[in-house]
Order: sequence, then structure tokens, then C-alpha cells
Amino acid sequence: MTKATLNYGGVETELDVAIGTEGEKGVDMGKFRARTGMVTLDEGYANTGSCKSAITYLDGERGILRYRGYPIEELAARSRFVEVAYLLTYGELPTPKQLDSFSGLLNSSSLIHEDMRHFFLAFPNYAHPMGLLTTMVASLATFYPVPDEMDEEVEGQVIANLVSQVRTIAAFSYKKFIGEPAVYPSHRLRFVENFLNMMFSSPVSNYQQDPDVVKAIDTFLILHADHEQNCSTSTVRMVGSSLANVYAVISSGIAALWGKRHGGANQEVISMLASILDSGDDGRRFIEEAKNKKVRLMGFGHRVYKTFDPRAMILKSLCHKLLSKPGMGNPMFDIALRLEEAALKDEYFLSRNLYPNVDFYSGLILKAAGIPYDMFTVLFAIGRTPGWLANWREMRHSENSRIARPRQIYVGPALRNYIPLDKRSPSQTNVGNARDQSTSGSGRFSSKRLVPMPPSETNTLGEQGSEFA
Ligand code: CMC
Repeated sequence: MTKATLNYGGVETELDVAIGTEGEKGVDMGKFRARTGMVTLDEGYANTGSCKSAITYLDGERGILRYRGYPIEELAARSRFVEVAYLLTYGELPTPKQLDSFSGLLNSSSLIHEDMRHFFLAFPNYAHPMGLLTTMVASLATFYPVPDEMDEEVEGQVIANLVSQVRTIAAFSYKKFIGEPAVYPSHRLRFVENFLNMMFSSPVSNYQQDPDVVKAIDTFLILHADHEQNCSTSTVRMVGSSLANVYAVISSGIAALWGKRHGGANQEVISMLASILDSGDDGRRFIEEAKNKKVRLMGFGHRVYKTFDPRAMILKSLCHKLLSKPGMGNPMFDIALRLEEAALKDEYFLSRNLYPNVDFYSGLILKAAGIPYDMFTVLFAIGRTPGWLANWREMRHSENSRIARPRQIYVGPALRNYIPLDKRSPSQTNVGNARDQSTSGSGRFSSKRLVPMPPSETNTLGEQGSEFA
């Protein structure tokens, strides 16, 4: 059936139904307002298909994730991140020649303009690296101007710049904060090895690559490379739809990713596990608190998955492998396993379809690989960059590309008379009341919160958090 009928007040409106490759259906509401005067209301877009896309297929009921038709499990086991970046961007797995040339382009695009290094010096020492990444990626727009008309070659170069330079900026940010000189990318190293070398080698010590760590980080990046129309990718499409500069577009995706409901959750999980461990709880008390809504079990639940997130399952088995290596064990892994076991037997979590998501085990992998806590979400951003770019590219080439501009249902005051300044009293406006509250210091945004905070106050995780500084 390719038509749906909506009946409102006895009037029937026939609407087209779009059917996807896997049979999923979407009622096309594009002309709905023009025909009925009504809009659709879907807060949080839980039920809105914002575009047609040929990049990633996700079935949250069955726990299926595929990039360009290939199961995530197979890509994670058999591919490298750079191949997956190519696949997402161009739609096919690369031939050896295409892979060579794509890798070469990534290598030759990996340096950032030397003048950009001065920017790093101007950030406070306790700045979160996601703040730096957002800013530095946006500023790439000023160093690498993008012509209005982009041919395939320029577009390919822009994509290579971003995939490669996000990684370089990430590593330089870390070096700035530990007070070491930046280590430049090297054409002799592959993508992940290059990143680890930029992070951990120094003029006085070489970084010894561990193939298991390299494989773990590569797999982490593959698993994070795309995830359909999530918050940051939707942001990328939203900002990109105005035809904004592509560097600003990717920077907006990074900003959206930072939030703890999204990519920031991988830090929150480690923070949660560390506090459970410190408190001596075996996880049971925390589960009770989560059920009583005092806390959230971070790394659990997902808007789309109503069963196991396939990425979490891959990361869990990777955790078993990596953390069993000498020196890499972590008691937080036992807590995580116990939390998962308890939650999956509990009516609260089962009835709400709350299962581990990608962030539940990823922080443990990153920690075992030596990645500092504050860099976790940055690693997510490196992984997600090809997915954002693939969506940006798809939108750019789409015939239906229009500026994204949702509607709303207005629920504010109806038309009222203007009040002259000398006739206004606090009771007529609650804005003054809100300000009184905040300046008294009891409000959420007290004036104290607006001054720069020293590192100790920004660090909410004691030892974990201080790893970065
Ligand atoms: N712990 C305890 N209760 C939860 C959790 C959780 N992690 N997640 C959802 N719930 C409860 C929630 O309280 C609500 O209960 P009730 O029906 O009694 O009001 C119900 O489950 C539905 O939750 P929701 O917040 O309406 O669901 P959502 O689809 O809007 O939010 C989510 C999805 C991922 C933001 C949420 O599950 C969450 O906050 N999880 C923890 C943060 C996290 O792990 N985020 C990473 C997401 S995956 C990676 C990514 O996309 O970046």
C-alpha cells in the first residue's frame, strides 16, 4: 500500500507512503500543511523521518546495524576504519587501488596550517578538549576556504581534510594540555597508529604500538562511524541545509555530540563506574537509585534500540579480550558486568527496553588503551566524522535538498497590549523574578558559575578526571 488516509473532523486526506529498501514505511507529510492547515507535532523527533538516506540501515527492534548494506559485525571484524570511511562516503568498499589513493590523500591532508598551532596556546589549561575541537574545526574554514562551486576533486579534498585533520587536532589538543610539544602526523603510519603516535610519543620517547590496542581503537572508530539520523548527524544535516561552510557544519556536529545524552555519555559511564567502585557498592544500590530516578544508568537505553545495541555486544567481547591482557585489567569492568546482569533481570529495565548501548563498554576499552578520560568523546568525534561527511555529501547531491525548517505549535500568550516601561511591575513579567533568583546565588546559573573555573572545580572525577591535566 502506498497511500495512507488521515481523517480529521470527517474530512479525509490521502497521503503518500514512502517505502524503504527493508520495507520500513513513512507517511510523506511534505504537503500535509498545504492541504489541511495542520502540522505534525513530534517533540524530540521520535517518530519523524527527516530524510531518505542510502547510508546506514538501523533496525532498533531487531538490533541490526548496517553501513551501506554491510553488517556492522562483519565490518568490525574484517575492515579497517579508513575502508569504512570510504565505504560510508562513496557507497562501496574500496578496491586496493582506491584504498591506496584514499589513504594517500588522508596522509597528505593530515597536517594543519602551522599558524593554527598558536590557537592552542590561547586556551585555558583546563578547557575540555571537545571545546577545543569544536572551535578548531570551525576555524579550519578560515585556513582552507571552500569555493562555492565544489567539483568532485575539491569535495574529495575537503572530506579528506576533515577526516584527517580532526584526528590531528585531537592529538595536538592533548599534547597542549600535558605541556608537551605537538608530534606531527607521519606518512609512514596508518590512520590509528598515526593517531596513537601523535598522542603518546615525544621527542624523548618512542611510543610502542600494541597491535591489540590498535585493533581495539580501529574497531571503536568503525563502530562509531555512523548511526543514521542521531542528534549530531541531524544537526549536521540541519546546519548543512543552509549551505553553511562544511567546516562549520562538522563543528556543529561535534558540539551536538558533546552532550552527555549523546557522545558525552562515554565519559559519564566511567565516572559512574568509578563512583560505584569508590563507594564500595557492588552495583545493587546504584540500580535501585536508577529505578527511583535519582540517577541514570549511563550507557543504558537508546531512542532507537529496543533490544541489544549490536555495537555494545562487539565492544563487550573486545573488553573481555583487551582487559585480560597483563596490566590492562580493571575492576570497573566487573562492576559493569554486574550492572548489566542485574539490569537485564529487572522489571524496570526490561519493561522500558533499556539495554547497554555503545557507550557502556567503550570507555573501558579507551581506558585500557591509555586514552585519557577527557578525550573519550573526542575519540567518538574522530570516528563519527566520516558519517557526518557522508550525510553532508548525500544531502549536497540530493535533488530534494531544501533548507531544514520545522514548524511548531505556539503555546505562548495570545495577542496582548504593549505595557510602557514606567507601567511595568514584576508581577507582570516573570523575567525579573528569574534574575533575582540567579543573582542571589541559589539559582542554577549563579554568578559564581559564570567566572572561569580552576581545574579542580571542573574535575568531577577525582583521579579519573585528573588523568588529562
Ligand atoms: N537509566 C534509568 N532509566 C532510564 C534510562 C537510564 N539510562 N534511560 C531511560 N530511562 C527511563 C526513563 O526514566 C523513562 O522512564 P519513565 O517511562 O518511567 O518516565 C523511560 O526509560 C524512557 O526514557 P526517555 O528518557 O524518555 O528515553 P529517550 O529515548 O528520550 O532517551 C537516552 C534515550 C539514550 C537519552 C536515555 O536512555 C538516556 O539518558 N540514557 C543514558 C545516557 C546514555 O547512555 N546516552 C548514550 C546514548 S547511545 C550513544 C549516542 O547516541 O550518543
